[in-house]
Amino acid sequence: MEMREKLGALGFLLILVDLSYQGTEQDRSNYYTAAVVEFSPIYKGNAAVTLKENTDAYVKYIEKAKQQNADIIVFPEDGLTSLNMPERSRMDAWTTVVPPVLDEYTPCTGNAVNVSETLKTLSCAALQNRIYVVINIAEKEICEPNDDQCSDGIRYHNTNVAFDRTGKIIARYRKVNLYMEWRFDRTKSPEIVTFDTDFGVRFGTFTCFDILFPVPALNLTRIEGISDIVFPTAWFSEIPFLTAVQTQFGWSFAEDVNLLVAGYHQPDIGNAGSGIYLGRNGIANVTMTRNPENRLLISRVPKRTRSEKNGKAECSTIVDKKEEGKVEMSFSGEQCAVSPTVTDGIANAFYDSERKGDGTDWIRLLHDNLTTFESLPVNFSMDKSICQQNFCCHFHARTPLVSNPSSIVYHAVVYNGVRLYGTEVEAGVRLCAVIQCANDSILSCNSISQSNITFTALSVTATFDDDYSNMLAMPSMLEPSLLPTGHWTYAKRADGKQTNLTVALNESTNDLVTFGIYTRDFARDKWNRN
Ligand SMILES: *[C@@H]1O[C@H](CO)[C@@H](O)[C@H](O)[C@H]1NC(C)=O
Ligand SMILES: *[C@@H]1O[C@H](CO)[C@@H](O)[C@H](O)[C@H]1NC(C)=O
Ligand SMILES: *[C@@H]1O[C@H](CO)[C@@H](O)[C@H](O)[C@H]1NC(C)=O
Ligand SMILES: *[C@@H]1O[C@H](CO)[C@@H](O)[C@H](O)[C@H]1NC(C)=O
Ligand SMILES: *[C@@H]1O[C@H](CO)[C@@H](O)[C@H](O)[C@H]1NC(C)=O
Ligand SMILES: *[C@@H]1O[C@H](CO)[C@@H](O)[C@H](O)[C@H]1NC(C)=O
Ligand SMILES: *[C@@H]1O[C@H](CO)[C@@H](O)[C@H](O)[C@H]1NC(C)=O
Ligand SMILES: *[C@@H]1O[C@H](CO)[C@@H](O)[C@H](O)[C@H]1NC(C)=O
Ligand SMILES: *[C@@H]1O[C@H](CO)[C@@H](O)[C@H](O)[C@H]1NC(C)=O
Repeated sequence: MEMREKLGALGFLLILVDLSYQGTEQDRSNYYTAAVVEFSPIYKGNAAVTLKENTDAYVKYIEKAKQQNADIIVFPEDGLTSLNMPERSRMDAWTTVVPPVLDEYTPCTGNAVNVSETLKTLSCAALQNRIYVVINIAEKEICEPNDDQCSDGIRYHNTNVAFDRTGKIIARYRKVNLYMEWRFDRTKSPEIVTFDTDFGVRFGTFTCFDILFPVPALNLTRIEGISDIVFPTAWFSEIPFLTAVQTQFGWSFAEDVNLLVAGYHQPDIGNAGSGIYLGRNGIANVTMTRNPENRLLISRVPKRTRSEKNGKAECSTIVDKKEEGKVEMSFSGEQCAVSPTVTDGIANAFYDSERKGDGTDWIRLLHDNLTTFESLPVNFSMDKSICQQNFCCHFHARTPLVSNPSSIVYHAVVYNGVRLYGTEVEAGVRLCAVIQCANDSILSCNSISQSNITFTALSVTATFDDDYSNMLAMPSMLEPSLLPTGHWTYAKRADGKQTNLTVALNESTNDLVTFGIYTRDFARDKWNRN
């Protein structure tokens, strides 16, 4: 009798716990709900005011996301301080101590010295709304007295922090690959940071420029087997290969993991683009527009099972259409064809008609330096291999003559070499692509117009004669909306000696800006830093 009463009481307790954690119900389902915020920070000169106003804005988004049952919300890189932080010597007021995960510290309720109001407020918002919160913040690490690599007693880090539903710090990641961020220090050694959630998903995290490097990004996906990544960024888009959404989607596809991206928004300096990406299952939600400045994206994210990820089985999974228009995979022999498609509804939802005509004037874009690329104009019938430095690409293209051609031409381009990213790193790149140009000069290939040239067929094959498994090979697709283009397939064919990666349109398509494969060849990377 007594026992039954006890059980009854316990049952009741469990129900209470259930109700207090919205996520528990979703534990049993195949989805979790993710929110990412594209955000244009306020900057008021003064650190306290700037941090307070941006923090207050974050809290509103946390509440909104909670109202829509989000389990996790991600904010952009530099979103609390803005990019306008002062020089290093005046950084103190802009930074906070972030206690290590091992301390199991909850800023909302704790009283550690030098933990900022910002960190406390956001921890409280996570607690009050029972939601996982991921932010990026300027961190100060007070050096140990005997640390000889620490010149002025403090190290500053560009740091991601994750809070659980009780406001506790469960992850602290210090950006490894800094992009011309002189105020911040390099980490003593790179950390591979993950955190677990009560909805059964283990996340990894890294920041912005990290996406183009092996450590820690590929350690997470290829060694730790992480299937979901949270990614704060402040990305400077570059045509024709490295605009924000193009790169985010390409990486998520290449590694076949879910990627939650929150982007800093300031189109006048080239920052825009956020999304929720599902690897080879396509794109759940994306934004790359000038207006509005701030945007909350919320989508359900299918959970990935370990077995789906294991062995990096790029081609061996057969998945039927899970959701309308989103997934279509087929598998035959060593070829696999995958067509991630942004369904019309989703793409159009963020398609700003204002910039349909001409994209260049609304987001400031960097241009790649194409002078040393091998290139050939694409004519109405092309079947040709082009090589550079023993790296060969094959192009197959059909473009019927049109009676009213636009001024646009396309070039097939190949590059195998190094290039500078920012000023700090010479990076190995191999690429094959068809890109949009204004005329027969390769220097005019920075065009992003609508195009009357229709490709009735187009395939681009990159051939790797050496081991490509240590590289990162991303499909690189772009249309004038600055979103990835629609209907194509991806195939990998290997015979033990060489590997071919092929992307091919599966439908007649116009309005192409970029169509190809962008590969990072890490073996050739060289950092120029003191
Ligand atoms: C707080 O930070 C200041 C420098 O900003 C430092 O001098 C002081 O030691 C720190 N206090 C603690 C307890 O870490
Ligand atoms: C990342 O992975 C590489 C192997 O690809 C390994 O050598 C390196 O130690 C790893 N880094 C960390 C921090 O675990
Ligand atoms: C994308 O996010 C918006 C804003 O939260 C939401 O209204 C919309 O339903 C989402 N779209 C999809 C396809 O999940
Ligand atoms: C191309 O692929 C898309 C997405 O998988 C599919 O909806 C469409 O029917 C395909 N088109 C052709 C002509 O096969
Ligand atoms: C582009 O690269 C070429 C060859 O490396 C170099 O001479 C030229 O100065 C570069 N142009 C710009 C604008 O950086
Ligand atoms: C089309 O281009 C290819 C290679 O660029 C060239 O070999 C061929 O002669 C061209 N055909 C025509 C009709 O211009
Ligand atoms: C495309 O063709 C239509 C007529 O078919 C023409 O009105 C339009 O200006 C053309 N667009 C471009 C960018 O050339
Ligand atoms: C090609 O287009 C560029 C603009 O992208 C222009 O500066 C250049 O003069 C054009 N060259 C020719 C030969 O028309
Ligand atoms: C790779 O592509 C090249 C050129 O298209 C072709 O000659 C070669 O046979 C292909 N290799 C494999 C393994 O498919």
